[in-house]
Amino acid sequence: MSKAAQSTYRSVRLWHGGDYNPDQWPAAVRAEDARLMKLTHVNIASTGIFAWSQLEPAPGVFDWSWLDETFERLHKAAVWIALATPSAAHPRWLTAKYPQVMAVDDRGIRLQHGVRQRFCPTSPVFREHVERVNRALAERYGKHPALALWHVSNEYGAPRCWCNLCATAFREWLEARYGTLEALNHQWWGTFWSQRYSDWAQIRPPSTLTGRAWPGLELDWKRFQSHLLCEFFKLEAATLREITPHVPITTNLMGTYGGLDYAKFADVLDVVSWDSYPAVGGDPSAVACTHAYMRGIKHNQPWLLMEQTPSATNWQEFATLKPPGLMALWSWQAIGHGSDAAMYFQWRRSRGGPEKLHGAVVEHAASEKARVFQEVAALGADLEKATPAVAGTRVAEARVGILYDQECRWAFEGSGGPGHAKPYVGTVMRHYKALWRRNVPVDLVRMDGDWSQYKLLIAPLLYMVKSGEFPLAGSPEQMRTKLNEGAKIEEWVRSRGTFVTTYLSGIVNENDLVYEGGYPGPLRKLLGIWVDEIDNVKPGEDPNRIVIEKNGLKGLRKSYACDHYYDQIVPEGAEVLARYGKNWYAGKPCLTRNAHGQGVAYYLGCDAEDSFLLHFYAALTTALGLQPTAEDAADVEALERHGGGRSVLFLLNHASAKRTVKLGGRSGRDVLSGAQVSGRVALGPYGVRVIEMKT
Ligand code: GLA
Ligand code: ZN
Repeated sequence: MSKAAQSTYRSVRLWHGGDYNPDQWPAAVRAEDARLMKLTHVNIASTGIFAWSQLEPAPGVFDWSWLDETFERLHKAAVWIALATPSAAHPRWLTAKYPQVMAVDDRGIRLQHGVRQRFCPTSPVFREHVERVNRALAERYGKHPALALWHVSNEYGAPRCWCNLCATAFREWLEARYGTLEALNHQWWGTFWSQRYSDWAQIRPPSTLTGRAWPGLELDWKRFQSHLLCEFFKLEAATLREITPHVPITTNLMGTYGGLDYAKFADVLDVVSWDSYPAVGGDPSAVACTHAYMRGIKHNQPWLLMEQTPSATNWQEFATLKPPGLMALWSWQAIGHGSDAAMYFQWRRSRGGPEKLHGAVVEHAASEKARVFQEVAALGADLEKATPAVAGTRVAEARVGILYDQECRWAFEGSGGPGHAKPYVGTVMRHYKALWRRNVPVDLVRMDGDWSQYKLLIAPLLYMVKSGEFPLAGSPEQMRTKLNEGAKIEEWVRSRGTFVTTYLSGIVNENDLVYEGGYPGPLRKLLGIWVDEIDNVKPGEDPNRIVIEKNGLKGLRKSYACDHYYDQIVPEGAEVLARYGKNWYAGKPCLTRNAHGQGVAYYLGCDAEDSFLLHFYAALTTALGLQPTAEDAADVEALERHGGGRSVLFLLNHASAKRTVKLGGRSGRDVLSGAQVSGRVALGPYGVRVIEMKT
């Protein structure tokens, strides 16, 4: 990898634009694009994403004409370029000459040329060709003043490759991680069903042929796949960093996609970007939570909303239009959560291929009178108005963090029980929502992150707690580090923190090997409890109750519904705050609190209804003196960004009807309308206010 320093993304403007494919269109259409971009206040175009066969129509024969023309034309129109490397789609000449660039499926069958993103990330031939075309691009455009950003590949991810090269690399990676087969056999508990290995060469990636996946093996295979693609990203980035060390690098991520551990990617890219496609009518808190996750993997630095649809998404079950105002609302929501961009897939609808019916800024009629075009133009104008206040600011520092760990999710999802549901992401989102509804700022936080800014840390379903006896999974550099999560949590609580965790936590170590001595394993002392059994029942049939003890927590109702998982808690030092109301374990504890040093640790033993989470976190945040960004604001999300002596408040009405919200004693200037605001602020359906506050 190149020694060139990683460039840092500097937040100087709000980007407005999106995927732009001039290679699909004749000159007259391209000229019209420049005019239309001006009308929509577009200032960035992600270009060349799937353009390899247009860039290099025959091996070694480059056609720069269309891209040269694009750079010149957009530069004149004050539009910057996020130039893509084209590795996500490959020219037919490449796959014809070198079939080995294609991935092999899990039954050993080589995939054939067809659509995009089906390459083998280990293939030396593929890597060589990617490196070659990236170098050519960087050399040709690296000094062009319109080049703002590298958009590396596109949405790395499935399908995985089971070829011999990948399988061999997997075995080498396992050897580096475990050192000896003895250790691997023990950690994977190979004595069960005769699964011990006596030679590294015997290990096979899990597949439909190997039968039901072995949890330790499956977990490591997922980590390895993530590592392979991250190394692939690093290969692409190395060439770009060598030639254009001044240009920041991103690759567009996919939110809660389960195939990759994005925290590992965040360490090697310069700025996070992600593609957000929520269904119309979905829960806005889930989008907010995903923004927090994508922001948190790079420690809350500014990030970019790289793609969203301006209207309909063709691949969803229903391609529902975003009603008037919703696209702008979701754009501002991303910005309120720290994005420096509102970008679209796509600028102009293609005439053919699989995505011709996907929404675009310029629809097939190509009319500037189209509703979507006009909404995009209005948003572009507003983004320009807001830029002096917003650019250069970052999300306000949150005091509440929710720990999110993709490896924990993988282990839980592959754990073999209890029950079939594996709602790791959904549970994180429900805890997030309980704070979001009250407009308390929340981050999603990495296990290996710096937790010093937080007063309250929540770890829903922390099934895996890494012991620190094994290296962190990932690249050779990452594998030099170990992390004892139990000790880290304990130390954090001891010195000041309020910690909350739930049922199904502290069960296994980093290799899905159960801790001896009872759940919640390394957290047992901190929580002052142990869990004798875990009951898992069909949700909705006969919910239990959480009955709050008389002197339990202030501000809670007497009882709440709970369901699905019921831990049988045995206190050993912890105070009981609530007990089950029904079933043969009525009267047994389901919520406990244990003091530890200057901090305190809560354990919630059951899947509590939303209103419990709402009231529980209200009680904890109030006790910690944490203020919501705005109070009494049903359906209105309030977010704040700070920086350069400025403070900007975003009020976002997620309802399709009018809402009002109180500013308390604060006041400011609405940067979109220019009006001074104080007291009660009215918001229209899906309305947005961006207010530079008096500080
Ligand atoms: C993804 C891809 C785009 C496009 C859109 C369609 O985000 O990155 O190329 O396929 O989906 O929604
Ligand atoms: Zn392969």
